Amino acid sequence: MDNILEVEHLKMYYCGKAETVRAVDDVTFHVVRGETFGIVGESGCGKSTVCKSLVKMMPPPGRIVDGSVRYNGRELTTLSEGQMRAVRGGEIGMIFQDPMTALNPVMRIKDQIYESLRRQKLSKKEMYARGVELLRLVDIPEPEKRMEEYVHQFSGGMRQRVMIAITLAANPKLLIADEPTTALDVTIQDQIIRLIGRLKEELGMSVIIITHDLGVVNEMCDRVVVMYAGHIVEQAETRELFDHPMHPYTRGLIRSLPRAEGREKLEPIPGAPPNLAAEIPGCPFADRCARCTPACREALPPLREVRPGHLSACVRDDLEVSV
Ligand SMILES: Nc1ncnc2c1ncn2[C@@H]1O[C@H](COP(=O)(O)OP(=O)(O)O)[C@@H](O)[C@H]1O
Ligand code: SF4
Ligand SMILES: [Mg+2]
Repeated sequence: MDNILEVEHLKMYYCGKAETVRAVDDVTFHVVRGETFGIVGESGCGKSTVCKSLVKMMPPPGRIVDGSVRYNGRELTTLSEGQMRAVRGGEIGMIFQDPMTALNPVMRIKDQIYESLRRQKLSKKEMYARGVELLRLVDIPEPEKRMEEYVHQFSGGMRQRVMIAITLAANPKLLIADEPTTALDVTIQDQIIRLIGRLKEELGMSVIIITHDLGVVNEMCDRVVVMYAGHIVEQAETRELFDHPMHPYTRGLIRSLPRAEGREKLEPIPGAPPNLAAEIPGCPFADRCARCTPACREALPPLREVRPGHLSACVRDDLEVSV
C-alpha cells in the first residue's frame, strides 16, 4: 500500500502547571494515498488535537510528547516552525468547523486567495484568473463580483466554500477537514460534503475528515478510526465498521445515529467521556459500558485484529453481540 501519512504511537498532551491532559495517547494509524479517512468520536475525545499535532499547530500548553508523523516518508515532528509553515501552506491544507477563525474580516476575498497563492510566483493577472477559477471550482456564483467582497457578505455555507477555495489555492495533496460541516444546517452540510468529495476526485487529493457524526463518515469515508478518551478504540473500512461494529462505544455511536436506516428511536450513549486529566485505570469506556466486567478495569485493552483488517480495543471483542 502507498501511504501518504503514517502516524505511530503519537502522544500529545496539554502539560499545564496544575494538570496534564492526555488528549492524544498513543495513537497509530495511516492514510492511504487517494483515500478519504475518517476520525470519529464524541466531543472531547481528542480528534482536533490529533489533527493539530499532525501539522504541529499545538495551542499552548500542548506538546508532542512522543511518537512520529511521517508525510510521504518525511518525519514532521522534528521540523522547525519555518519548515512546518511551508508544509501547512503547501502540501497539507486544513479546513475547520468555523471558517471565521481562518478568514480575515478586513481583507477582500481575492487578497486572501492571493496570500495562499504567493509561493507560486504568478503575475497579478494570473493570480486574479486563478482566484476566479478557484471560486468557480467551489461553486460560488458570480466569482468576479465575489472576489471583491469581504467575508461578512457571505452566508455560512458560502464562507466554508471560500475557506476551501483559499486552502485549495496552495494545491494541497492532503486535505485535513476538522468538523467542516458541524456549524452548518443540514442541507448545506450535504452540499459541502458532496463538494469535498468531488474536489478530492478532481484534484486527486487524500482527505482526512474529523467528525462527531458517523453519518458523515458513512457518506464520505473509505476507512475510519473511532476515538475515545484520547485512544483509538476501533479501526476498519467504513462498510465493515457499519456491518460489524465490534467495540461497545462504536455500537453506541451507531445506535445514537439519527439517520440510521430503519431505526425508530435514538438511543444516546448515557454519560460523557472521561476527564483526560485524571488517571484512568483500564478501559476508558468502562463507566458507560453495559458490558463492563471487573477485568475491564485492570489494564488498558490493546487494539487487536478481531476480523480481517478490523481492529478493536475491547477485552470482550470475542463475544459477538448485535448492535
Ligand atoms: N488548549 C488546551 N489546553 C488544555 N486542554 C485542552 C486544550 N484544547 C483541548 N483540550 C482538552 O483536550 C481534550 C481533547 O480535546 P479535543 O482535541 O478538542 O477533542 P475533540 O476535537 O474530539 O472534541 C479535551 O479534554 C479538551 O478539554
Ligand atoms: S473492555 Fe470492557 S468496559 Fe471496555 S468496552 Fe470492552 S466490555 Fe466495555
Ligand atoms: Mg474538535
